[in-house]
Amino acid sequence: MRVIDSARGFTEALEAERARGRRVGLVPTMGALHAGHLSLMSRAAAECDVLAVTLFVNPLQFNDPTDLASYPRDIEGDALAAETAGASILFAPTVVEMYPGYPQPPATSVSVGGVGEGLEAASRPGHFSGVATVVAKLFALAGCCRAYFGEKDFQQLAVVRALTEDLGFPVEIVACPTVREPDGLALSSRNARLSPAERRAALVLHRSIQVGLDALHRGERDLDIVRGLMRAEMTTEPLVHCEYAEIVDAWTLRMSRLAAGELRLLVAATVGTVRLIDNDGVSLGPFSEEQRLVTAGGVSGTGRER
Ligand code: PAJ
Repeated sequence: MRVIDSARGFTEALEAERARGRRVGLVPTMGALHAGHLSLMSRAAAECDVLAVTLFVNPLQFNDPTDLASYPRDIEGDALAAETAGASILFAPTVVEMYPGYPQPPATSVSVGGVGEGLEAASRPGHFSGVATVVAKLFALAGCCRAYFGEKDFQQLAVVRALTEDLGFPVEIVACPTVREPDGLALSSRNARLSPAERRAALVLHRSIQVGLDALHRGERDLDIVRGLMRAEMTTEPLVHCEYAEIVDAWTLRMSRLAAGELRLLVAATVGTVRLIDNDGVSLGPFSEEQRLVTAGGVSGTGRER
């Protein structure tokens, strides 16, 4: 595996691969690699001819300086893991290589409206602009490729899809399912910061989503009731402070009024001092005429209806 730290070197390496007729798979990461990241890499390695992994802890997307300072860093361990997962190129630039004026932010930034608003954006101002700016730069450096992103960060995936389409990058976005611990906890580099008691309490995120999914599968079609059940489940854990438990349209990410089509159930909570997110999806049939009549006029607004 080649480890590259210059932006130009990365672009040239991928151009050379494409010139040999190889299809490039790209997996952007911030390191601290776990089985979730590795699942993206294995899939990209299987579906493409050459796997390029990027490892860059992007300061623009951290709105809390302590979070940035305490972000786990282990470049040697990550390089080994990426190579084992099939990477032949690892792009690991310094902050100054990516942002030459750092700590001044770059003059150009990318901000995504619509799917980039609400939910995570409401709690983390500037976060998605930081993500969108670095992903746009990585795509510009990488050129034509398939890029793999996890559904674990569902709103980020929507933001990346939107910027790819709006800015016309020659990149095909591939969404990969969330990898979980056997007990249901979604893998995250932040899980390492949980105490044993917090680790147990953190299971309530997944449980809350399951409660919501169970209600929908049982036939409950009042989404405010389902949201209420999800939030009630969250309150069963004193160590957990729920930030949101929402049900949105899986494509627009707007608060869903209608229990129909593809829906996404998303939760965010602080467990002790660690902020965690999780989500899962469900596909319901089209909204029936009977439901339409029952709901007509009787739906309470959430402010972001479609
Ligand atoms: P990072 O948190 O390192 O995640 C890199 C990729 O791994 C993302 O696409 C994320 O959704 C995916 N991922 C994380 N945990 C996962 C899990 N349990 N199962 C499946 N996939 C998982 O997300 C970022 O980095 C950054 O914002 C980045 C896109 C690299 C831009 O800086």
